[in-house]
Amino acid sequence: MLYPAGRAAAIPAIALAWFALATPARAKDSLQPAGWDRGIALSEAPDLNPDPHVVEVNIDARVAAVEIAPGERVDAWTYNGGIPGPLIRVRAGDRLVVHFSNHLPEPTTMHWHGIRVPIQMDGVPDVSQPPVPNGGTFTYDFVVPDAGLYWYHPHVMSAAQVGFGLYGALLVEDPSEDAQVGVADETVLVLSDIALDGKGGFEPPDTGGSTGMAFGREGNHVLVNGRERPRLLVRAGAPQRWRIVNTAKSRFFEIDLEGQPFTRIGGDGGFMEYPIRLDALVLAPGERADVIVAPRGAPGTELIIRAFPFNRGFGSTEYRMAEELMTIAFADLPAYAGGSPPPVRRAIEPISTSGATAVNIEFTIAQRPTGAFEYGVNGVPFAKNHPVTASPGETQIWTITNKTKWSHPFHLHGFFFQVLDKDGGPVHPLEWKDTVNVPLEKTVRLVVRYDDRPGSWMFHCHVLDHADGGLMGMVDLGVPHVDHSAHPGH
Ligand code: C2O
Ligand code: CU
Repeated sequence: MLYPAGRAAAIPAIALAWFALATPARAKDSLQPAGWDRGIALSEAPDLNPDPHVVEVNIDARVAAVEIAPGERVDAWTYNGGIPGPLIRVRAGDRLVVHFSNHLPEPTTMHWHGIRVPIQMDGVPDVSQPPVPNGGTFTYDFVVPDAGLYWYHPHVMSAAQVGFGLYGALLVEDPSEDAQVGVADETVLVLSDIALDGKGGFEPPDTGGSTGMAFGREGNHVLVNGRERPRLLVRAGAPQRWRIVNTAKSRFFEIDLEGQPFTRIGGDGGFMEYPIRLDALVLAPGERADVIVAPRGAPGTELIIRAFPFNRGFGSTEYRMAEELMTIAFADLPAYAGGSPPPVRRAIEPISTSGATAVNIEFTIAQRPTGAFEYGVNGVPFAKNHPVTASPGETQIWTITNKTKWSHPFHLHGFFFQVLDKDGGPVHPLEWKDTVNVPLEKTVRLVVRYDDRPGSWMFHCHVLDHADGGLMGMVDLGVPHVDHSAHPGH
C-alpha cells in the first residue's frame, strides 16, 4: 500500500527517531535497523539461577491494569502484570524451575502446552496436582527436552481464565538449529484476542449461554503480543524469522502478508522434514508455526498483516471482515539483496504403525432435555466418559471423526503425534504435532507412541469453550483404572 507523498515523507523521520532510541541488535549479523522489533518485543522473565543449564523464574498470577492500545485499559488477569505473560527462554535440555504464586480471586494452575513433562508437572487440577488457591504457591520443575515454541496457560476454567489474559510463550532454543536457519532477526508473536464490553471491563465468559459455548466465544479485539496493531520496522527484502503461537481461546488465525509468501520451517514440535511455501498461514488455537518471511515494499511505506475470517463452522465467516493484526513499516534503507537463507531440513522417522492399537473417537454434540448444548467424546461428555487406556511403549492410531458443525483443534497432553493420511500413510513434510485441527464433519488420523511417563493425560478440543462444554477425555497410560468423573479437571 502506498501513501500520498506527504505521509511517506514523514515516515523516515519516525524511523530516525527509532534509531536514536534503539538498543543494539541482538545478533551481530542482524539485517534489520536497530530497534526494529521495539514496538512488539515481549518482556522476558529474568533467569534467577547462575547455572547455565538451569533457568529459574518467578511467575505471579494477578489482576493488573494493562493497556492494549493507547488509552484502552482493562483490568486483566495476568502473569507478572502483562498480557501476554513474560517470554520464558530456555535451551533444549535445560531444567526449568518456575516459582508460581496465585494472587487471582480464583484457584488456577499452569499447564505447559506441548512440553513432554512428567505428569506431576502437567498442571491439570485434581489429576496431576491440586489447584493453587488464592494466596497459594506451586513449584514447577522439569527438564525441557525438545526445541520449539511452546506456551503456558491455566487449566482451571480455561476459557474464562485464558480469555481474561492468562497465557505466555515458552521458547526452547537449540543453538545448532538456529545456526542452520541462518537468520539472526527473530521475533516471537503471541496471537490472541480479548472480549471487552466497551465499559472498561470484560464481557462475561458465559455470554450467549450454551449456544455461545457451542460456537466458541471469540474476543472482539485481536492482539499481537498483547497490543492492537503493533508495528515492526523492517528493511525490505531482509529475511526474518517469526515464531508464532495462537493462544486465543476460540479464534483461528488465517494470516496474510498482502499476498507475499511465508516459508514455514517448523510447527508445534520444532522443525519439519522440509520447508513449505505458503501464501497464507493458518493457525488453530494452540498451534505454533516457525516461518521465514522477507516482506518487500518501498522505503517509507507500510504493509498490513491481516487475519481473514477462517471457516471453522457455522457462524464463523458470515458478515465478518478481515482484522488488521500488525503493521510492517519499511525503513528508509536500500532493499536487502542478499538472497534467501538455505532450506532447513530435519530427519524425522515416521512412527511405525505396525502392531498399533486402533482408537476410534467421535466428537459429538447433543442437547440436554433443558435444550442446552453439550459436547462429548463418542456421545458422552467428559464428566462421564471412559478413559482411553494405553501402556508405555504402545503405539496407537487414533481415528478422530468430527460429527459436529464446528471444527475442533484436537490437543493431546504430554506426547507428540504424527498426522496420517486417509490410507494410514505418513503426511509429508513429517512433523511433530501436539495440536491438529479436525475440521467440521471430517476425519483426521494420527499416530502416537507413548514413552514411559505413566499417568492420566488429557486430550481435548483447544477451543476452550468446547473443552469446558464437554469435549475432553483422558488417556490413562500405565495406570490402574481410575474414575475421573469426580474431577472435571478443566
Ligand atoms: Cu493447551 Cu489442555 O491445553
Ligand atoms: Cu472444539
